[in-house]
Amino acid sequence: MIVDKLGRRFKNLRVSLTAACNYACTYCVPNGKRLLKAENELSACSLLTLTQLIQAAAGIEQLRITGGDPLVTPKFDDFLLGVAALPLKDFSLTTNGQLLLSKADVIEASGISRMNISLDTLNPLKFKQIARGGDLETVLKGIDKMQALGIKLKVNMVPMRGTNQDDILPLLDYCLDRNIELRYIELMRMGHLTQGTRYQADFLSMQHLLDEIGTRYRFERTDAPFDSTAVRFHIPERGYFGIIANESEPFCTACTRLRLSSDGFLYGCLSNSARTYIGDLVDLPSHLALPKLQKILLKALGDKQLAFQGETTVMKFIGG
Ligand code: 5AD
Repeated sequence: MIVDKLGRRFKNLRVSLTAACNYACTYCVPNGKRLLKAENELSACSLLTLTQLIQAAAGIEQLRITGGDPLVTPKFDDFLLGVAALPLKDFSLTTNGQLLLSKADVIEASGISRMNISLDTLNPLKFKQIARGGDLETVLKGIDKMQALGIKLKVNMVPMRGTNQDDILPLLDYCLDRNIELRYIELMRMGHLTQGTRYQADFLSMQHLLDEIGTRYRFERTDAPFDSTAVRFHIPERGYFGIIANESEPFCTACTRLRLSSDGFLYGCLSNSARTYIGDLVDLPSHLALPKLQKILLKALGDKQLAFQGETTVMKFIGG
């Protein structure tokens, strides 16, 4: 087992199935152009082989399928069913929810038990402004469908000043009413947000969110698992919500995440663009691939930072 000085090890693998996405969210894509076809991406079969190698080398327990939006690629079905057959404690999925209805059958067949759906607003006009693709009604129907299948849901919202600030409470009510845990994600300084003044102008802190929620609800902070990224709160008799407080309460010292991009690069840290290509390992027999991978994992663990400092990579390439 590879462990660093802080006791961090890789337990949680995130595989970005494609960088393509049917949205072009303002915080992710600077020019509003959707990336409909991504280049140099590995097949579902190669990504599964790499996943198995990483699992053998690092002792991965949990896997999350991300993107881009993982549902836009034809690889989705094979990869999801492949992951479902791996000996993992748990696997899940992050999606913008736009294609959940059309993929409901394979999702049900996979036996997936939980999923995160990104939803930044309940206002159809603001939805278009932020996502620059898709439509709100379809996402809401997708959410209902996943709940009907008994899948436990979290909703991710990135609150931004002047854009979806008015949705902080409505989205919380929507989630509480449906027994969904809302996760507010503090805006992260990634990609184009590392330049200019947009980040400072849009950022809303955990304290801001708590002050606003406090105008309607009484809540208390509760325990979260050691390597959870979220600070969790309980609203008695109503439910839970969480805040991923990258800035206000960095969680890097307990991070157990490792990321594999759709084009075959391994990243040890979201706040470090350092990466190593491992796509060539799929052609090696495992007794040759594994020692190489061990070395790469050691380097990737060394890439982990102590706090999120901003990074030019964007979520669509390395997944959330
Ligand atoms: N800051 C905060 N959250 C982001 N996401 C994508 N880019 C950013 C950013 N710069 C969110 C998406 C998705 C989750 C995986 O990450 O909205 O819900």
